[in-house]
Order: sequence, then structure tokens, then C-alpha cells
Amino acid sequence: MSLEDLTATLSAAGALPEDWAAAFREVDRAKFIPARVWFDDEQGRPQPLDRDGEPDRWRSAVYSDEPIVTQLDDGATVWPARSNAATSSASQPSMVLLMLDALDVQPGQTVLEIGTGTGYNAALLAHRLGDQRVTSIEVDPALAEGARANLKAAGYAPTVVCADGAEGWPGGAPYDRIISTAAVIAGSLPYAWVEQTRPGGLILTPWGTAYHNGALVRLCVHEGTATGRVIGNAMFMRLREQRTPFGHAARLGELVDTSTTALESTTDVPPHEVATGEGAFSVGLHLPDVQCSVYSEADGLYEVLLYHVATESAASAQVTPHATEAHVRQHGPRKLWDEAENAYHWWVEQGTPPRTRYGLTITPTGQHLWLDTPSNTIRWRYPIAGSAGGDDLDGEGD
Ligand SMILES: C[S@@+](CC[C@H](N)C(=O)[O-])C[C@H]1O[C@@H](n2cnc3c(N)ncnc32)[C@H](O)[C@@H]1O
Repeated sequence: MSLEDLTATLSAAGALPEDWAAAFREVDRAKFIPARVWFDDEQGRPQPLDRDGEPDRWRSAVYSDEPIVTQLDDGATVWPARSNAATSSASQPSMVLLMLDALDVQPGQTVLEIGTGTGYNAALLAHRLGDQRVTSIEVDPALAEGARANLKAAGYAPTVVCADGAEGWPGGAPYDRIISTAAVIAGSLPYAWVEQTRPGGLILTPWGTAYHNGALVRLCVHEGTATGRVIGNAMFMRLREQRTPFGHAARLGELVDTSTTALESTTDVPPHEVATGEGAFSVGLHLPDVQCSVYSEADGLYEVLLYHVATESAASAQVTPHATEAHVRQHGPRKLWDEAENAYHWWVEQGTPPRTRYGLTITPTGQHLWLDTPSNTIRWRYPIAGSAGGDDLDGEGD
């Protein structure tokens, strides 16, 4: 496998935008991927892949259209230790290109990237725009240092800053474009990004909820506000300070299974529609901080688990093969299945809108969600603390 192979694959798939083809051909991804990377085994546990130990497999991963995990647990995990979470990665090349294309950047413009990671995306930007016009922020000092070294070795020198990207980087503002390669939680898009983008400029960021990861949002900045739509799918690691509590599913799943006070009921709403796809995207917009896991067994049995860590609330909806109804158990102060079912019904009443019918307006005082047009705002409960929204689903908006 080689860079030429990857370029040919993406080109054949129509995933190599013309404006980015030269940069993609000349910036070698291999120069940005560390010697040790991580891939999940069949049980979903990350296992190391070492360039020195398995050079062919490493090279084949580098030149595949796949994301590559480059850091676990903020760098704390030294194999063989138990890992909790992937905390940095080199994004899937086709997603990198899709985002760069959506950024609609023109020669002469300036870009701020949030989430330098390996430095690969910053190198593509620097190739197209020149080092002077690209600033990239990475919160993790070791990653920032590594990215600077990778960029230097590849012949690029954009400004790499080690800082919290949620504050932007006022030193280089205003920017024509801000691109985040770390996801923002609904209701918490950093307002600093709006302030630091030139009027008429764009902000592009993965955006989602604890429930559903996630969507790609593109906002156009006007004086002090930003408005735009969800333009597609994007599954990204969250900005560090916006992470969802990790590792509670097994415990809360056990709790709802064994609870002697759980409310039991049945539902004819298919749990997978509440938990996956477009339905889940919409449901998540109404259930701040609630997480969702799906478990399926080879014999056709599957279970949806909803849980809210702060209140120790959990709900399970279990489906056995050929059953027309699912069996629901709800434990804790929040009746999460009822909440999810209400949100699902609301989505059906709206005509099952796909995510691309939603849009956002960010102002100095609030973050508003709308359907189809900015005036059709939807009441929601984001941001999670100090919400400006209401707590029902069918009001006029705020
Ligand atoms: C998907 S990776 C970025 C991939 C990168 N653009 C590349 O080309 O390799 C997301 C990165 O965002 C970084 N990150 C998370 N929170 C951040 C924050 N608040 N400020 C800056 N970087 C952050 C993570 O440490 C991680 O390296």
C-alpha cells in the first residue's frame, strides 16, 4: 500500500475534491502517524500496532481510508494497561477531505484549526494556503510537540499553539475560517469562535450530544452571531472539557437489571429506532447528558440501554426475536425511556426530519436550534447548565 494507492481509491470514490488533490498527493500521511497506534480487537478493546514490529500492517493502516487512534487516556496508558478511551486520532482521510471541502477555503484566507492531533490536517491547510495563514491549537502538550515535529519533518511550519481551543486563539484573529476537528456538545459551541471569525467567514465543526455522535455543522458568521445548518454526519472525539462521563454503562446496566424498584412496562416503539440513525439524532437533542448503548446478541435478542450518570437513572428496552413489543425497565429519578419515547414521537410528528433539516443560531446570549428556517426554533434543554430553553418539546421556542 502507498499514498498513490490511497489517492487512487479516494479519487475513484469521488472523495478527492479537485482543490485538495495536489495537497493530498504531496502531504504523506505516513509522516504524521506515530510508530505506535491502536486498533480495537473483536471485543472492542484497543490493541497496539507497532511500526517496528509489524511494518506491513502499519503501512497498510496508514494508507487505508480509516481513522487511526494515536493516543489513549490522554497519553496515560502504557501497554499493557487497561484503557478507557481513545483521546486522539488521525481522522479518516475521506472525512478530512470532506471537511476541508466543506470549509470552502480560498487562497489568501486564514484558518484556525482546533485539535492539531498529528498535524496532518494542518499540513494540508498549510500546503494550500501557506504556513503564515494557518494556526492550529492542540490542548495536549505532548501531542502539540509531536505535531510540530511531524510538520517540520514534512516541510511545513504553520503556527501550532498548545492551549485550550475552546477559547480560540485571539492572537491570530480574525480568521476567515475556523475548523474544529474535535466535536462540540449541543448548546456549547464556544462563543469565542464566533467572535474570532471575520464577518462573512465560516465555522465548521462536528457537533452532537452525549446520546448521538454526531453531525457536521457549518455556520456563517455575521456581526456577533453565527447561523447555519447541519450538513452531514461526523463522528469525532469531543473537546476535552466537553467529554461525556465514560465507563458507566456496565454498572448502570446492571443496576437497572437488578433493581427491585424498577418500573416495568412494554412499548411498541422499536427501540432501535430510538437508539440509532436519524431518530436517535433527534431524540438526543431533547435528552441532555443522557447516553445510549445498544447491545445485540447473535440469536436476535437486543437491548437498548439509556443512562444518565449524574442522577444514576437508567432504562433498558429489551427485544426478543419475533416479539411485537419491547420490555422496558426504568430505574432512578428520571424515567429515561418515557423521555426518549416522547422525543421520538415528537420527531415522528414533525415528519421524521433528517439531521440536515436542523440548523443552529449562536448569539452572545444563547444557542438556538431550529428546523428548516431560523425562525422555526425548537425548545430544547441545552446548554445543560443554565438553559435558555424550556423543558418540553412542543413549545414555540425561546
Ligand atoms: C480527532 S483528533 C484531531 C486530528 C487532527 N486534526 C489530525 O489531523 O491529526 C482531535 C484532537 O483534538 C484535541 N483536543 C481536544 N480538546 C481540545 C481543546 N479543548 N483544545 C484543543 N485541542 C483539543 C485532542 O487532543 C485531539 O488531538
